[in-house]
This record gives sequence, structure tokens and C-alpha cells, in this order.
Amino acid sequence: MLNTGIIGKTLDFISISQHTAPIAYIWLFLRLVKQQFISLLYQSENMSSSNINLRNPREYIFPQPMLEALETATLQTQLLIKGQGVFIFELTKTPSTTFETRINCADYSNKIRLDIKITKNEFSALLTKSDGNTFEGIERIALSTNDKAFYWLSLDSHNLVLRFGIGEARLETESCRIMFDDACKKDLLTISQFSFDDAVIAPLRMLRDPISTPVALAVKGSDDLTMDDIAAHRFMPKANLSEIGQLLYDNVAGKKFVLDDDDFPEFSQAIEYSIKTPGCWCHTKLAEKSKSKPAGQEKKIYLRITLGQNSGESPGIPYVMEIWPPGCYSSIHSHAGANAIIRVFTGSVAVTMYPFLGTEESFGKATFKAGDIAWISPTLNQYHMLKNENLDGPTCITIQCYMYDKDDLGHYSYFDYLDDNNKLAQFNPNSDMDFVEFKATMRKEWAKR
Ligand SMILES: [Fe+2]
Repeated sequence: MLNTGIIGKTLDFISISQHTAPIAYIWLFLRLVKQQFISLLYQSENMSSSNINLRNPREYIFPQPMLEALETATLQTQLLIKGQGVFIFELTKTPSTTFETRINCADYSNKIRLDIKITKNEFSALLTKSDGNTFEGIERIALSTNDKAFYWLSLDSHNLVLRFGIGEARLETESCRIMFDDACKKDLLTISQFSFDDAVIAPLRMLRDPISTPVALAVKGSDDLTMDDIAAHRFMPKANLSEIGQLLYDNVAGKKFVLDDDDFPEFSQAIEYSIKTPGCWCHTKLAEKSKSKPAGQEKKIYLRITLGQNSGESPGIPYVMEIWPPGCYSSIHSHAGANAIIRVFTGSVAVTMYPFLGTEESFGKATFKAGDIAWISPTLNQYHMLKNENLDGPTCITIQCYMYDKDDLGHYSYFDYLDDNNKLAQFNPNSDMDFVEFKATMRKEWAKR
């Protein structure tokens, strides 16, 4: 048996015949390379979303599956902290009525076991304790038949709960939960490893901390954060964002990072004027975009004014000022797995959130007004639709800034979205005009009015 790093795989199932030997040896070699790679990743301190104040990483990202056709054994992975964590995974088979898979959790000795069974409509867990007694829970669920769906399993021994959900790992997407009694706590806290059938389950991430509280959607810096904000989960403390999230926040949250500054105090009024006045740049550009849309979707438009250049750290240009006239809205889209910070300058924007890209069933909606700052991480708030619901105005103007996570080596450069036929498509984050030129144009139009 070979079992390396955070993830191991039993290799004793392989039977090598004369005919299969070359393939098997290549496969073994690639497996060893893969496991060495995984082992190195696990040892690295550059884990995604690692907290610079703590050595223990906040999550582990599984490499993309390799050699899928040849993998038919059980994969084993370890929790980053015993007794807690979130396992995020995809199902490689569309769940049918006969679908069944298991995730077996255990302590190091394999004596204390938490055996989880997932079928299309049922989620069950059986805990075998150190004294030989058992605790069982069964809940109804409905696995998705959407091939873009993914799932999460959260073990929270301190709060005696096992949660299961679809899409982004958060309370809002929970499908079911099993509550354990106090007598289970001692044993649950020893759970250290998960094993599963990788012909059915494709692992994506292992998060260190369990899902326990709602995700606050707006961010506040320490000078503005109150005790009530924390107690009611109303705001995400800026210091709790990932290192990259904090960097982006600091870049755009400053008091002087505003639209109407001393240089052009009427800038936002000038933009409103340009939108409303035929012949002006915003009016013309919006009319052009609107014309390209199918009937009924003429308001599925907005303007993208970019600051700076693409320096390879973000999908498209890292800073984008977005202009959302009354009633305008976006497609349902994702953000290339990048981090983002969104600050609202004027008006307000309604954000409808989705568990994964491919479904039109949202799990929540929030409205951000002038002064609010929202956040996106590789694992949270990635899938949304924006709309300026103030049909009588004002226009909503925001600044968005993006950056890939520290160890994102893929740098996927598109914002995927659901097109008019609800099919996945790629949006290349482009620019309608550079900020410097735009500001000069607005100033000119405003002076001429
Ligand atoms: Fe977005």
C-alpha cells in the first residue's frame, strides 16, 4: 500500500499482466509524480487563503484529476484539523435513482468510524464510537442532476453537527444536517481522515474550518466595525479576508478613492448627464449595446471603464469602474475563481447569489448602497447577477478590482456566464474605455452642456 501526504491511494488492487504492463508502469510512474506533487503542495506554506498569522493553512486544493479512466480505487485524504473541516467535491456521475456512494471518515486507528452514505434522495451517517455503541442519523436530500453542481460536507465536532450542501460551502446552501448528542463529541473530535470512491467523487478542496455561521456579504475595516456587527454576522471584518482580499480592500477602500474628488467634483453628475443626453458618449455606447441584445433583454447592459492595464494577476484589467443605469442588469456569471472587492460609489445594486454556475435557483439576494463594500473569494460569492433596481435612478456606479489567489496557477481569464439560452459561455473581461480618456470625455461634455 502506498499512502503519501494528505491524500493516498491503495495500489494493491493492481494486477499487472503481460499485455497491460507498459500502461500499468506508465500509470504507476504518473501516480508517483502526482502523489509527490500533492505531497509538496501539502507541505507548502503557500496554501490558498493561508492566514499569514497562522502556520496551519486554511484550505487544501486538490490538483485536477489525472488519469481518470484508470482510477478505480479508494482515495484517502486527511482533515487539516482533527474533528473539523469541509470537504468540497464533484460527483463524476449524474445521480440516478439507484445512485449510491460513501464517504468513510475515521480516526487514525480506524476504530472510530463515521460512515456516510449518499443516495439521490437520502443522506445518512453512522458513527461507531470507541465503546462500540453507534449513533445514526438519516435525512432527505435531492442531489442535483445539473453537471455543474458540486457538493460540500462539513464536520463540526465542537457544535456536534454534520452538514451537507450543494454549491458554495455556506449555511445558505445547506441541504441537510445531522445533529449528534453530547456523548458523541469525544469520538467525533478524533476523526482525522476521509476515504471515498474516486470513480464517483472528484475532490476539489478541503477547508480547515467547518461551516458554522452565516457569511456576511459586506466588509468593514476595523475603524468602522462594531460589536453588534460581529454578533449579528452583519459585516465581514476586513482582517478576516484572505491576504489577497485584504490587499484589494486596501487598494479601493481609502477615503480619497472616490468618484467626485477635488479634481472633478461633478464627475458623477456628468456621467448621469452623458447617459441621459442623446449624442453624448454614454448614451451612444449604451444604445449600441442595447441594440445588440435580443428583444426583452435591452437592459442587460452596463459600461466597463478600466483603470490601468492587465498585468497578468487578474482576469482582464484589475480595476473596472462599472456604470449601471436604472433597470440595467447582468447575466448570471462567475469570476474566474479570483478574489474581488466591489465598492459602490453612487446609487445601489442588488446582488442575487447562486450556489454554482448553471442554475437559476438563487439562495439569496442583498442590496449594496453607496459606501458599501462587497467581497468575492475563490470559494464564496463567486456566482451572482447584478441589477440596478432603482428604475427612476440614480445610476449605480461601482469600482471592482480583481486578483487571482496566491497559488492560482491556472489564471483562467474569462468570466463564465449563462447565455440567453441558459448555456454556459465565456465573457472576455473587456473595456469600453480607459478611465483617463473617459474622465476627460465626461469633463468635456459637462463643460459644453
Ligand atoms: Fe460580477
